[in-house]
Amino acid sequence: MRSAEIRQKFLDFFASHGHHKVPSSPLVPAQDPSLLFTNAGMVQFKDVFLGKEVRSYKRAVTVQKCMRAGGKHNDLDQVGKTARHQTFFEMLGNFSFGDYFKRDAIHYAWTFLTEVLQIDSQNLWVTVFETDDEAYALWQEVAGVSPDRIVRMGEKDNFWSMGDTGPCGPCSEIFVDRGAEYACSDHCGLGQCECDRIQEIWNLVFMQYNRSSDGVLTPLPRPSIDTGMGLERISAYLQGVNSNFDTDLLRPLISAIEALSGKVYDSGPEGMPFRVIADHIRAITFLLAEGVSFSNSDRGYVMRRILRRAVRFGRLLNFQEPFLHKLVPVVEDVMGGAYPEILEGAALIQQSIEEEERRFRLTLEAGMKVLNEKLDALEPGETLSGEEAFVLYDTYGFPLDLTLDAAEERHIAVDQEGFDQAMASQRARARSARSHHQEVQNLPQLDATEFVGYEHLTLEAVPVEHLYIGNDAVTRLMTGESGWLQVPITPFYPEGGGQVGDQGTITGPTGVFRVEDVVKMHGTIWHYGTVLEGSVRVGDEVTLAVDQGKRDDARRNHTATHLLHAALRTVLGTGVHQTGSLVAPNRLRFDFSYPHPLTPDQINAIENLVNGWILENIPVMTQVMAKEEALQEGALAFFGDKYGEVVRVITVSGASQELCGGTHCSATGQIGLFAITEESSVGTGSRRIEAVTGRNAVNWARGLRQIVQDVSQSLHTAPTDLRSKVEDLVQNSRSLESRLVELERQHRFAQGVALAEHAALYEGQRIVIAQTAAETVEALRQVLDGAKTKADGVILAADHGERASLVVYLGKDLIARGLDARALVKSLAVFIDGGGGGRPDLAQAGGKNAQGITGMLADARRQLSEKLVAAG
Ligand code: ALA
Repeated sequence: MRSAEIRQKFLDFFASHGHHKVPSSPLVPAQDPSLLFTNAGMVQFKDVFLGKEVRSYKRAVTVQKCMRAGGKHNDLDQVGKTARHQTFFEMLGNFSFGDYFKRDAIHYAWTFLTEVLQIDSQNLWVTVFETDDEAYALWQEVAGVSPDRIVRMGEKDNFWSMGDTGPCGPCSEIFVDRGAEYACSDHCGLGQCECDRIQEIWNLVFMQYNRSSDGVLTPLPRPSIDTGMGLERISAYLQGVNSNFDTDLLRPLISAIEALSGKVYDSGPEGMPFRVIADHIRAITFLLAEGVSFSNSDRGYVMRRILRRAVRFGRLLNFQEPFLHKLVPVVEDVMGGAYPEILEGAALIQQSIEEEERRFRLTLEAGMKVLNEKLDALEPGETLSGEEAFVLYDTYGFPLDLTLDAAEERHIAVDQEGFDQAMASQRARARSARSHHQEVQNLPQLDATEFVGYEHLTLEAVPVEHLYIGNDAVTRLMTGESGWLQVPITPFYPEGGGQVGDQGTITGPTGVFRVEDVVKMHGTIWHYGTVLEGSVRVGDEVTLAVDQGKRDDARRNHTATHLLHAALRTVLGTGVHQTGSLVAPNRLRFDFSYPHPLTPDQINAIENLVNGWILENIPVMTQVMAKEEALQEGALAFFGDKYGEVVRVITVSGASQELCGGTHCSATGQIGLFAITEESSVGTGSRRIEAVTGRNAVNWARGLRQIVQDVSQSLHTAPTDLRSKVEDLVQNSRSLESRLVELERQHRFAQGVALAEHAALYEGQRIVIAQTAAETVEALRQVLDGAKTKADGVILAADHGERASLVVYLGKDLIARGLDARALVKSLAVFIDGGGGGRPDLAQAGGKNAQGITGMLADARRQLSEKLVAAG
């Protein structure tokens, strides 16, 4: 039976029993930071199980793409070792949301297996949670399974949870016995060994609880059903093949790898590289198709690790060049029918895989070089330190197992414990560096907080419900401690729509908590801050007070941001799109698409428009309406923000209309003044404007005035004359500079003449050989120019600190006697560790050893005497 047929039969069977067919959700769960990847069919129904979401159906059936790499359910390191583990796989599942429970779930599963798929019930086994007597009885009663085929197991095997938090419950698993020929030993059996003979194929979870981050189980509103059967496993069984990798889902990939490598697949341990690559290329293809990109964090990092594992195993098959991308068309062939999303960006998918593999291969080469150097320094029998292995891993991305392999070849050990320690301390460093913004991601999902900050800035007698330090729940925060505080209702604006969170104080009967930041997660508003005095406890009735000044500054900046956006569209055209924004109390920043720097005229025009609207003191209106309606009216929405079905629309009549959840002025006049402080580029085709408003604009203007005043004062001139005064000064300093340069030149020239007047005679020739104090080669040449006028030959050197230089001039007579300035320079430059060249009459050299000057000049004197005597 082909896998496509199994998918269809499953969907149809459950549909015929009242289940709604729901398409697979993406591998990257929508808005669920608690989960790296969709790891089971139930993930898209999490909120339905929790009672937070209601659907029009109570039964559903899906074929879900799943990924088990990273996070709680992580099979990455198992893949390839067994017949049954995968990172990417398809899960067939049926779900009941408070509708049927254990009895029907057991009945449906049994009927599907034995009647639709016609599996012999003699080959089936089941497990139940150790205390689940009800399931134990139902298997006998509903399915007729004999008690010796029902095994009770503990929490590890028979209690399923999605992650560290979320829906969970006891489960019951169905196993198929693939036959005695797969037995690992005489003791082979369910619960006795981990071998591939008796394989789990279907898990029925009796969803009953929600697990919170502190491990507490709270009953779900209604007991529910979540089941999952791996398509690859059931296909393997029905197709009568050895393993998942021999099914019609994966065998085509194995064959393609055989063709590319020229090697033959073996279902034993030797075949592991084939299995790893076949599994991993599917995972990577699907992740890329969903827009995950290779990176060093989160999902992108897991995908990177998957690719690297595949490349490493590829080395065992002798792949020397990038090869993984060549398998993408095979994945598309097999899977594209059921999952057309992988066909869309096919070319791009191949490109990114090839690119990433190429880069990893370079990394490997670089790492290999460093590793070889480290190993060269050791003798066989010695140990490579854990620290060094870790540096290779951390800095070069060089995997530990490659280090182990390479070391082993040379009979060198690796301190793996040291490696683990180095890794642990690096993790600890990374943890403490993590900002509280990342921390908030792991805080529990609580009821939605009521936000009353549009109308109120203070609120009294509100009970503190939760306190957290990091991710640990605490009952109180003491003086100096920082953490998270949650209340059911708050006037504090949480960061959103570009506007930063409010600041302020929360005061209880025994202490004061300073609010530094406010963040909203899944509807809960969290106040981050520090206890300034006393303590704050869970249960305290507190007064919440937002800093009015900061809030007012922020609202001025927020309304001004809308006006700026409108002005940009007026001045630059409506093709300008917002790409980001920041609204803080002290400034605003607006990023938008535009290909050129703005001209001063454009900047003035924008400022004038905004200030014009401010002067008109136009009322700022807030309406709450349906999103569709708002968009139809032409209100602007920013794609980077998430909007609900009901939105707030902020209108400044005649100027701007935008969807926005932020806080605003009630009329534009409150902004006071708007000033652009900077216009700059933020990447190709994108510009950034920074601006200030209100008191910050006044302060900014005052700062400029202060600069003008200070400068006027030190120049003893009126601010109005400043411009001409500065122009005069610049002019003046330029002419002084050129006069100084000329004077220095004359001075050095005279120095040279003076040197020549005391020149020594060599066979009747006046020759200057001297060290001077010239600071540069240029200066040295000027001394030479003077000396030349009165001497037949000049050899000058100078010590410039780090460098030394040498210039040589020879007059006609000396040249006639066979001397050459180039030859002389060449032989002398050796003394100062340098070199140079030039013409027969004029040459120069530079070197880095000023210590050699004395010796060099002595040698010059010797050479000249000898040569001139010889020349007669
Ligand atoms: N959610 C259950 C599992 O993944 C069915 O095993």
